[in-house]
Amino acid sequence: MRSSKGKIHLSIITVIICSFAFLVILHTDPSKDSYPRTKYVRKQSKYATAEEKPAKDHLKSSGIDNRIKFNQKVWRVDIGKWVFDHSFNPLYTERSCPYLERQVTCIKNGRQDSDYLRWEWRPDDCALPRFNANLALEKLRGKRLMFVGDSLQRGQWRSFVCLVEWTIPENKKSMKLGRPHSVFKATEYNATIEFYWAPFLVESNADLNSRVDMKKRIMKLDSIAKHGKHWVGVDILVFNTYVWWMTGPRLKTLWGSFEDGEVKYGGELDYLLAYRVGLETWADWIDSNIDPSKTRVFFITMSPTHQRSEDWGKINGTKCFNEKKPILKKTHWGSGSDKRMMSVVASVGEKMRVPVTFINITQLSEYRIDAHTSIYTETRGNLLTEEQKADPLHHADCVHWCLPGLPDTWNQIFLTYLL
Ligand SMILES: *[C@@H]1O[C@H](CO)[C@@H](O)[C@H](O)[C@H]1NC(C)=O
Ligand SMILES: *[C@@H]1O[C@H](CO)[C@@H](O)[C@H](O)[C@H]1NC(C)=O
Ligand SMILES: *[C@@H]1O[C@H](CO)[C@@H](O)[C@H](O)[C@H]1NC(C)=O
Repeated sequence: MRSSKGKIHLSIITVIICSFAFLVILHTDPSKDSYPRTKYVRKQSKYATAEEKPAKDHLKSSGIDNRIKFNQKVWRVDIGKWVFDHSFNPLYTERSCPYLERQVTCIKNGRQDSDYLRWEWRPDDCALPRFNANLALEKLRGKRLMFVGDSLQRGQWRSFVCLVEWTIPENKKSMKLGRPHSVFKATEYNATIEFYWAPFLVESNADLNSRVDMKKRIMKLDSIAKHGKHWVGVDILVFNTYVWWMTGPRLKTLWGSFEDGEVKYGGELDYLLAYRVGLETWADWIDSNIDPSKTRVFFITMSPTHQRSEDWGKINGTKCFNEKKPILKKTHWGSGSDKRMMSVVASVGEKMRVPVTFINITQLSEYRIDAHTSIYTETRGNLLTEEQKADPLHHADCVHWCLPGLPDTWNQIFLTYLL
């Protein structure tokens, strides 16, 4: 069914459309970690309120022990709905967390509506407990947790840090931002929560310079060692890679490593084939370098983009611009999530020796057209100007997500797998 000609045609068109949108967005320099160093203010009462939300739902109250009852094998996190709760408060705010980058602090950047902060994901067949910061840190005691991937993964990493950091006194935590490797440390727990930038997982000439012209971007589909050596010895590895592959129907590739001078031009490959080869390189690396009794490996499925408002029936809309509510129609799936890319991930995963846990955030995120940074973001280190904001067709970012926001839910789910 998925190989019908019509669909392939449509998806290529989509890829082409998306490529223009990504052009702007992927040029955002990942190394520019220019988050505002707002003074950290502990808002104990606020968190307490959030934690003590009346247990009108089945999620709550009996607390910690609840979590253990998950049976991840039968649990379908992707089937459920978003429920609005006006009394819901995220565990942190743009002000309370000093580690957010300006790219994602939507309210500081001028967003007026805040309902996007108050939707909770309710899977149909189980209760999803709230994120428990102390439990998360306890779980990470003496361990290294590392998120590896692109800017969406960086968002999830920052979300995770913000979700736990408020429970740690000022002098017992540190953050070292680096390129490509950043480390948040919780000293008392001897735990680190790290991010390693590798948007394709495999090597490319754009890894440390995301401003490389899309047309000149070249992937080394069989080379990963340069990145991989930084992943050795980590206890919990969490990978993603998706949008960077979606820049056009074909991608330029090279074979051979950067160092050995024996680089051969591999020509242009269909993006699906390139993705498969790249993921297989990653899978081989994992299988030959990871001891599954020491290291757990996770893979976050694709984060949807919302570039075509027709996908959700808004003929005259402008991408995700001005969306204030999630899509409520069940099983909505838009053109920004490529099911064939998803099946590549699944089929590569099936053949691996080391078990990989897929955290399937795609469906639940597909609904969240309201949660993107849209025009409340920056481009090349500058906030959008009024002129740019008035032109959402060219400037709205419907790839990245506001924080606090949707990636907090990804972490809420991720934590249930960790416990
Ligand atoms: C801290 O954790 C690292 C692993 O992340 C471990 O090698 C080291 O022994 C730990 N130190 C202490 C004092 O527990
Ligand atoms: C969309 O815009 C066109 C032209 O601007 C208009 O004719 C049409 O009625 C609009 N459709 C909807 C659903 O608003
Ligand atoms: C993730 O969920 C979607 C539907 O919600 C499904 O189509 C897809 O196969 C799943 N992907 C993986 C890797 O499990």
